[in-house]
Amino acid sequence: MLSIRGLDVHFPMPNGQVVRAVDGVSLSLKPGETVGLVGESGSGKTTVGKTVLRLVEATSGEIRIGDVDVRKASLKGLKTLRRKAQIIFQDPHSSLNPRMTIHRAVAEGLILNTSLRGAALHDKVSTILESMGLPAQFHHRYPHELSGGQKQRVCIARALVLDPDLLVLDEPTSALDVSVQAQILGVLKDLRITRPALTQLFISHNLAVIRFLCDRVAVMYLGKIVEEGPVEQVFEDPRHPYTRALLSAVPVPSAVKRPDRIRLTGDIPSPTDIPKGCAFHTRCPIAKKGTCDTIAPVPVALGPDRQARCHFADHTKGVGQE
Ligand SMILES: Nc1ncnc2c1ncn2[C@@H]1O[C@H](COP(=O)(O)OP(=O)(O)O)[C@@H](O)[C@H]1O
Ligand code: SF4
Ligand SMILES: [Mg+2]
Repeated sequence: MLSIRGLDVHFPMPNGQVVRAVDGVSLSLKPGETVGLVGESGSGKTTVGKTVLRLVEATSGEIRIGDVDVRKASLKGLKTLRRKAQIIFQDPHSSLNPRMTIHRAVAEGLILNTSLRGAALHDKVSTILESMGLPAQFHHRYPHELSGGQKQRVCIARALVLDPDLLVLDEPTSALDVSVQAQILGVLKDLRITRPALTQLFISHNLAVIRFLCDRVAVMYLGKIVEEGPVEQVFEDPRHPYTRALLSAVPVPSAVKRPDRIRLTGDIPSPTDIPKGCAFHTRCPIAKKGTCDTIAPVPVALGPDRQARCHFADHTKGVGQE
């Protein structure tokens, strides 16, 4: 459904430096699959999401959504893409036009992309808003009259009303109050059942959320995917020290033993000056001098759909061997 191959997104800066926001990302999503993209702030997640929808231009690489080659799409192809692939952003407030009622906001996409008009249009919009937990008394209100959670429900309704094949969600609950986050996560979890064919790329820095919603997870660090696999496998048996560090930061009940707890120290380095060798070596607790700081690790296949980009990812070989 979505295939990303060797994607680079580099931003040249006025001072001559280059921000390597995305650096050789490959990722495939099967139809109906929900894949989480996780990593610290600044790792390049949003840039991947925006590039998929061509809201940001790639520097090189290939992106296909169904049979559309996103980077080479004609105007007509882009129009189809805008309907078939939708994105939901972190801040629902700035995603909505303040001068449009929410009914109108949801109708807008249908008016632009379909021939639906009149009562049929009205009914379709009302039905989807209601299915998102927004009863009729809300439909003619303006965004400022709604809570953050209600606004995010409108954004989800607006994306789904076009019946997309692909949904990119960029931290859709991060800007909301904790109590509201759980409700929106419930709405998103229900989509897995009510829209089984919908393919989703779910961007989040929150591993618990990814585990709750996703089939597979890809962990990003400084523009690269460093580990990828089915959520249960990655969470139970993380093979990249960065994934282990992220998981160590998730609070767990004290009764749960976690022998290989890794504390992540220091900040993520600047993407204008990515460390040589393994980009994680400046923060990696098991980095090996002479290897990790000079040789860039390639992804090591660890099973079907499972890989990690670390010289020591395959512990069947024993740490220290390659
Ligand atoms: N338009 C841009 N121009 C320059 N740098 C950018 C631009 N967009 C993103 N970046 C930089 O690219 C890096 C990755 O950003 P982003 O994709 O937003 O990461 P994330 O979503 O994981 O926090 C960051 O260092 C960010 O500052
Ligand atoms: S390659 Fe080396 S520095 Fe990189 S994650 Fe593995 S052990 Fe750490
Ligand atoms: Mg982001």
